[in-house]
Amino acid sequence: MKILLVGNGAREHVIAETLRRSKRCSELLVFANKVNPGMEALASLYHVGNLADMKAIQAFGAEHKPDFAVLGPDNPIADGAADVLAEIGIPSVGPKKSLARLESSKGFTRALLEKYKIVGNPRFRIFKNDEGLEEFVRDLGPFVVKTDGLTGGKGVKVMGDHFSTAEEGLAYAKECLSADGQVVIEEKLTGQEFSLMSFCDGEHVVDMPPVQDHKRAYDGDLGPNTGGMGSYSSGKLLPFLTEDDLTQAHAITVAVANALRQECGEGFKGVMYGGFIAVKNGVRLIEYNARFGDPEAMNVLPLLQSDFAELCLAIVRGTLTPEMARFSDRCTVCKYAVPEGYPEKPKKGERIRIKELPEGVSAYYAAVDKKDGQIVLSSSRAMAFVGIAPTLSEAERLAQKGVECVDGPIFYRRDIGTEALIGKRVEMMKELRG
Ligand code: AMP
Ligand code: GLY
Repeated sequence: MKILLVGNGAREHVIAETLRRSKRCSELLVFANKVNPGMEALASLYHVGNLADMKAIQAFGAEHKPDFAVLGPDNPIADGAADVLAEIGIPSVGPKKSLARLESSKGFTRALLEKYKIVGNPRFRIFKNDEGLEEFVRDLGPFVVKTDGLTGGKGVKVMGDHFSTAEEGLAYAKECLSADGQVVIEEKLTGQEFSLMSFCDGEHVVDMPPVQDHKRAYDGDLGPNTGGMGSYSSGKLLPFLTEDDLTQAHAITVAVANALRQECGEGFKGVMYGGFIAVKNGVRLIEYNARFGDPEAMNVLPLLQSDFAELCLAIVRGTLTPEMARFSDRCTVCKYAVPEGYPEKPKKGERIRIKELPEGVSAYYAAVDKKDGQIVLSSSRAMAFVGIAPTLSEAERLAQKGVECVDGPIFYRRDIGTEALIGKRVEMMKELRG
């Protein structure tokens, strides 16, 4: 099969690697914004274009006629890459624009759950003007303010983290209202977040192993929110989750897949990535993404034992079964090396060198540039290192050894995947659940 992969981050690098493991993938075409050195080495054809230009993606598809496309990043998905490819007969692992509102509009998803009576929403309201806003906020107690578009997590402000008084939160909500004409206000939830990504062929939903990401920049979950500094997985469950938590999260995704099909007139084909939070009495939904997580894709795809190209084909054909997505039970830890100053004032253009990696560590390129044959930082997350082992502590040791191989003005989180940090999460859930 000839497969088109759209995107050029570390997530797409691991997607490319996993497609390349398939005997069915004879040609891998990449449409990217810029060169990813790791992906370039895996691609049969690597095209640098503009991921925001749907016409260019369509023209590339028309010229090369892949059997199907795999869409990586949120922006081209939200902009309708699956729609323009479908117009010329190329199906996608990645939803059409209307279905991608699952990620691109937080208000759409909250309203969908409410309309179809799906459990999992916190108390929330969508405001189109400030009528009743103040009363609602006073009534909620600690609350969260969310803008209604793709903002890389930066449009969300949480009381206690990003603002401290109701007045400050209200002022931000009014800012959002005048900028976008809409704002989502919801109850602040307390618990442990986890990512449950599921393959969906429009009808059938098959889960990947759950993963926990780390959004804060610094050790101890301090500092600003980022795209994700690293993540871990430990087989079928995470150390702080119960089987019942996972069953609840799965049921929400199945119900949402059905609701989407009714609401949009066709099914969601791709990855439904639920950002869930385990709270004292069950599981709630924070948000959905309409794609693989980054870094989460690097935790789960290397564990896939079945054939990824076959799995993708089943998604576009609507013939997905659980046997097509078999995963090894090993533990994984992923750590990102990011430029000094990231995310606020990241270094850019400075050279990094990668020493020889120890055995058992995988490395994935994210946002780097090549200048005079050297790898340089390009202001966002630079490279991810993944350790895979029978135990979390061994996987953590490998990921740590990997990230230490980067020479240059970068930093990373030492604590991701360590017993100390995971122990705290387990303790917190024990206390919450009483
Ligand atoms: P989102 O873009 O919706 O994933 O929000 C970004 C981050 O804000 C999440 O990963 C959570 O840490 C936090 N957050 C969002 N909604 C809530 C909520 N209702 N309660 C507590 N934290 C939240
Ligand atoms: N792990 C965060 C994201 O992919 O949005």
